[in-house]
Amino acid sequence: MKCASVFALFLSGKRNTEESKVVEGSYEYDHRKSAHKVKGPSSSSSDLSSDSNKSSSKLKSSDSYGSSSTSNTKLGSAGNFSYEEIYKATAKFSAANKVGEGAFGTVYKGKLKDGTLVAVKRANKDVENKNLGEFKNEVSTLSKIEHLNLVRLYGYLEHADEKIIVVEYVNNGSLREHLDGKRGDGLEIGERLDIAIDIAHAVTYLHMYTDHPIIHRDIKASNILLTDKLRAKVADFGFARLAAEDPSATHVSTKVKGTAGYIDPDYMRSHKLSEKSDVYSFGVLLVEMVTGRHAVEPRKPLSERVTIKWVSN
Ligand SMILES: Nc1ncnc2c1ncn2[C@@H]1O[C@H](COP(=O)(O)OP(=O)(O)OP(=O)(O)O)[C@@H](O)[C@H]1O
Ligand SMILES: [Mg+2]
Repeated sequence: MKCASVFALFLSGKRNTEESKVVEGSYEYDHRKSAHKVKGPSSSSSDLSSDSNKSSSKLKSSDSYGSSSTSNTKLGSAGNFSYEEIYKATAKFSAANKVGEGAFGTVYKGKLKDGTLVAVKRANKDVENKNLGEFKNEVSTLSKIEHLNLVRLYGYLEHADEKIIVVEYVNNGSLREHLDGKRGDGLEIGERLDIAIDIAHAVTYLHMYTDHPIIHRDIKASNILLTDKLRAKVADFGFARLAAEDPSATHVSTKVKGTAGYIDPDYMRSHKLSEKSDVYSFGVLLVEMVTGRHAVEPRKPLSERVTIKWVSN
């Protein structure tokens, strides 16, 4: 099933009644990220055409959005950054420029000499080299992928024991922060639909329009970044797996790669990854967007804890 099909299901309000086979307790969860301040869709306008500037609630042909065969970045080819350049761009990795933290490491906002804003992801020292090697091999491929709804990968660099990924900076926080009410004024239903369409475009593009299919592996609300016009950009494609190998990433299964609550049960059972795993995660994300819930709600009673199970009941 393609993302567009899941999306059609979402629009028609149907839901899959098949019993979810996500096994509770087969993963650990990061309780630090479980704050739940949701401004749900019930408080929102249902007028889908409420903002003609933002609204794109019509599926457009995905290949009109991007290209994987050319690299037009003004930043040049991947890996062209020096450590000094990034050190300066982030004002010596100043705390004032810190914009977030994840399993991979700390994220800083940076400004390059030419004024381009970048997000600098600085790896924790314990991120395994083995997996970075795998990632490095893919950097030149990934950096050629251009799509309006994908966060652009600009480059990767190593310096002494530092490992750094430089990506496009997206200025309005993550979808999770918006759903949690930590950012913005709450998302209207039309805005949620537009965001869902953007994500569907991005994932479809990764699966079907790049030279080789790319499986994201970690589609989730914190990996969807929003612009000031509330357009969505999918982040971390191709390197989500790095964070998954970090032993300190308690919210990530050490066996299969991905985030608790979003992992396709077939993949969990077989460890065989396919595009369908992303489609499953996208389905969980749609439920999150409609309900405001997190994929896993650790403070809820056991029977309501895993969102996909809860919604199937
Ligand atoms: N390209 C970016 N532009 C702006 N902010 C970003 C960017 N990438 C990440 N961030 C910010 O940094 C935070 C941490 O991102 P990161 O990808 O490291 O972890 P995560 O996606 O939240 O979780 P996980 O480690 O499980 O993947 C994000 O929630 C977001 O607020
Ligand atoms: Mg991320």
